[in-house]
Amino acid sequence: MLNKLFYGDNLEVLRRHIKDESVDLCYIDPPFNSKRNYNQIYNNVGREDRAQAQAFIDTWTWDDFANQGLAEILENYLGHFTSQSIDLISGLTKVLGKDSLLAYLISMTLRVAEIYRVLKPTGSFYLHCDPTASHYLKLVLDAVFCPQGGDFQNEIIWKRTTNAGSSKSIANKFPSNADIILFYTKSESYIFNKIFTEYSEKYKARYNKQDERGLYYLDNLKTYSEERLKKLISENRIEYTRKGTPRIKNYLHEGKGIILDNVWTDIQSLNSQAKERLGYPTQKPEVLLERIIQASSDKGDVILDAYCGCGTTVAVSQRLDRKWIGIDITYQSISLILKRLEDSFCEGVLTEIELNGIPKDIDSAIALANKKDDRTRKEFEKWAVLTYTNNRAIVNQKKGA
Ligand SMILES: C[S@@+](CC[C@H](N)C(=O)[O-])C[C@H]1O[C@@H](n2cnc3c(N)ncnc32)[C@H](O)[C@@H]1O
Repeated sequence: MLNKLFYGDNLEVLRRHIKDESVDLCYIDPPFNSKRNYNQIYNNVGREDRAQAQAFIDTWTWDDFANQGLAEILENYLGHFTSQSIDLISGLTKVLGKDSLLAYLISMTLRVAEIYRVLKPTGSFYLHCDPTASHYLKLVLDAVFCPQGGDFQNEIIWKRTTNAGSSKSIANKFPSNADIILFYTKSESYIFNKIFTEYSEKYKARYNKQDERGLYYLDNLKTYSEERLKKLISENRIEYTRKGTPRIKNYLHEGKGIILDNVWTDIQSLNSQAKERLGYPTQKPEVLLERIIQASSDKGDVILDAYCGCGTTVAVSQRLDRKWIGIDITYQSISLILKRLEDSFCEGVLTEIELNGIPKDIDSAIALANKKDDRTRKEFEKWAVLTYTNNRAIVNQKKGA
């Protein structure tokens, strides 16, 4: 299979182009319902080359899309919605009213139902969000996954920075410093590779004895047979306490490390100096994706990111020998991903990609120029400028067309 990059709305792409049960792992990092304004700053060589382009505003309004989405869920369009999803959205309509939060949850329900469909029976799903709506999103995900044999596995807390900011910027509450990643699987039988992290210096201090094999500490010998004890003694792995109780030598070099739990404090969000930074405001660190991809997939597996932004999932999948499918609604993302892949991997990398949704002839270019649903604005201009500069142009939103 060729890797696939789609330019378009992920709902349409999922429905039209992604087959049932064809994906091993899906990670998504959709725009949150956080009323944030994202200004994409494209950093070029020097400060003077900086230009801004507003890619999307992370707020939601009750509009025609929300009305249409609500109708599709309530009518069980294509038979893709569980009765629990239908009842949930119908109930939330009463509780929340037709407002921005409901519009956001409808948009997510539509898409998660498709993601569930395209996951293989052994597949996993990670939804990256924040506490603004994570409690509602968990209801949405429970209603899609659990009635169909899937299950909730973890709520991962990702502590983004070691220091949450100066005291000046902190309001009268605890600083918010964590994103939430909800992890679901399509069935009880799924791929999971345990991850171990390095022992901390504090933890290592317990290895306070040493012999010719290396550092060790004495641990309780839980249940053991006479035979096993004899074997351990012959291997010089036993020491006795003063009271004569046998204890086993636990060697530092034989430990795998500390098993990673659901609270991730060792990955920093990208700062302005980070080498991998591409100037995309919501860019996630590669190590974060590396962890998710390694835990929930094997080499050759297919990874989907339906909100792929500047392509962190795509780039890490490529590096870890996975196949990938990326979808984004803005041409700037597509362009940035092509450039990122070209800069990070060998020249042939672009020939292994099937590019979809990008104008390939005059008719489709005209269609893009005349597109009514230009939510992300000036897509035709961005496509034209970026394409004819081999993805090297800097898009300056202020100058318009
Ligand atoms: C938070 S960013 C993802 C950032 C990404 N994880 C990274 O590391 O670069 C969300 C992305 O979703 C895209 N997006 C928003 N709505 C979309 C839709 N309906 N279909 C496809 N992409 C969409 C936006 O253009 C944006 O690039």
